[in-house]
Amino acid sequence: MKSDSLHIDGLDMTALPLHIAVIMDGNGRWAQKKFLNRVKGHEKGSDTVRMVVRSCREIGISYLTLYAFSTENWQRPKAEVAALMILLKKFLVSERQEMVVNNIRFNVIGEQERLPEDVQKEIQRTKDATKSNNGMHLNLALSYGSRSEIVLATKQIAKEVQAGRLLPDAITEEIITAHLYTSDIPDPELLIRTSGEMRISNFLLWQIAYSEIAVTDTLWPDFTRNELIQILKEYQGRDRRFGRV
Ligand code: FPP
Repeated sequence: MKSDSLHIDGLDMTALPLHIAVIMDGNGRWAQKKFLNRVKGHEKGSDTVRMVVRSCREIGISYLTLYAFSTENWQRPKAEVAALMILLKKFLVSERQEMVVNNIRFNVIGEQERLPEDVQKEIQRTKDATKSNNGMHLNLALSYGSRSEIVLATKQIAKEVQAGRLLPDAITEEIITAHLYTSDIPDPELLIRTSGEMRISNFLLWQIAYSEIAVTDTLWPDFTRNELIQILKEYQGRDRRFGRV
């Protein structure tokens, strides 16, 4: 649990990122390397999700956004999609009470309506059960794609203009931000990607404009709390200039 006296050698607890976003990649390769079915990789990956949520809460991170299922992931084999949905449901059911106790507020970003009904139901239950929590905000990106999020925001803004409630010249960055799924979440200061790929994969394109990016070769199922702490230390050593000198 978050403890005000938590001390981690070499980590400045007063200079932590407020928001960490994670592209959890490499479950399939982890399984392949062990001659296992890809689903085994996702199962082990779910354990890493639990560990990372717990660790971020303990360390005192305020917002954690995990890319759990992209809009492109719907094109994976049916059996793999079904297995991911089952894991997701299991995660929601098994972690709900812990989220309640640990003051974690749960939310989802993405096209929730495309998810199976039973998963949607568990999402709603988890959101309801954690709605008055404020210790850490856990956001799962599910059926999420950043470009489609921006398209959706653009349509909403266009409708406001059409209805005469907004002048085109009054459209600002703040107005676009306010129409994204993440409207009430600060932009991530740190984006972590596992498994070594140097890509953004349609994740939070608008929101990561000034994020620090940390890519590790570690496959998601092998990612550890120690590595998370190492990345945080490395982040604290960076010089964030936001385009200034
Ligand atoms: C990438 O591995 C990971 C995903 C497609 C989704 C992440 C899912 C989990 C961590 C498990 C379930 C999630 C929760 C929240 C319980 P990949 O299959 O793309 O790996 P590869 O690139 O090596 O094939």
